[in-house]
Amino acid sequence: MSEKAEKYRLLERQVASLLEGETDVIAKMANVAAVLHETFGFWWTGFYRVAGEELILGPFQGPVACMHIPFGRGVCGSAWKQNGTIVVPDVELFPGHIACSSASRSEIVVPVHGADGAVTAVLDIDSDRLATFDEEDRVWLERIVTLL
Ligand code: SME
Repeated sequence: MSEKAEKYRLLERQVASLLEGETDVIAKMANVAAVLHETFGFWWTGFYRVAGEELILGPFQGPVACMHIPFGRGVCGSAWKQNGTIVVPDVELFPGHIACSSASRSEIVVPVHGADGAVTAVLDIDSDRLATFDEEDRVWLERIVTLL
């Protein structure tokens, strides 16, 4: 198992026990963002929640970020619209990328689903290095957000 996979494996168990018995989604998102951010040392780790036709900034770790993202805009709005994870190895090559921070170089956005299968939020992680995220991150992060 790769070093990254081992970190994710432990992190998944940590998240499962952290969230056990908790029903407040903001509290859960806050701790998931904190655990991911601390474990991997990402540049920015957080959630945007679906509110009508836009995403609104939720719990996060890292520098200040844009607070409203319309449906279909940026990586976050596109992942919501496509209802699928988007891995961006180089943000400068993603048309419509919303630059909340000029230090962000690569990004992954993972949709979060409610009980009815609709997208309720997205997990957005930014790195200050190129090509930080790959298929392995996608698989693990998609598993981790189901714990919310
Ligand atoms: N880059 C994102 C916007 C959110 S910040 O990265 C925190 C996007 O293009 O949707």
